[in-house]
Amino acid sequence: MKFEGVHEKTLVLIKPDAVQRGLVGEIVKRFEIKGLRIVGMKMMRLDEATLREHYAHIAAKPFYPTVEKFMMSSPVVALCLEGLEVVDAVRLVMGITKSRAAEAGSIRGDLAMGYGNNVIHGSDSVENAKAEVARFFKEEELLDYTKDEFMHVYSEDERV
Ligand code: TYD
Ligand code: MG
Repeated sequence: MKFEGVHEKTLVLIKPDAVQRGLVGEIVKRFEIKGLRIVGMKMMRLDEATLREHYAHIAAKPFYPTVEKFMMSSPVVALCLEGLEVVDAVRLVMGITKSRAAEAGSIRGDLAMGYGNNVIHGSDSVENAKAEVARFFKEEELLDYTKDEFMHVYSEDERV
């Protein structure tokens, strides 16, 4: 796979529990202060078909209907984030799936207690991130712009 440097992208969904609990700003802030670039951000409602595609790997599990109902219970906020090795970086900042066992300091570890109600989704591989960004964003909804901060976030040799 081509090395995308600081232009690697990932897909984040701020889930209904976070929207309902007023945590959208807190979660966006954590990505901003981490030094990531927001290249897409919108509020949307998810439907069954999108969720079935997005959660194909858990669609046959007994807990899937609960996940589906939860994910449709209110709008979500979709974010496309960019940075060096951003897929892995976001997974680390998120914390593990089961929030009450997630490391303190992570988004789930600090902000949630639930398993399904775990405030955030983040792509789990570069390959899945590409598919997920394309699933939730149209090409014209991703904005390419210079973020001068990147020169302070990365060293010169990382900033390719
Ligand atoms: P998964 O992709 O395994 O987790 P992650 O979001 O950390 O990548 O599962 C998708 C979502 O399904 C997960 O965020 C919460 C829900 N889920 C449950 O409710 N119970 C479970 O046992 C698992 C594995 C997932
Ligand atoms: Mg996952």
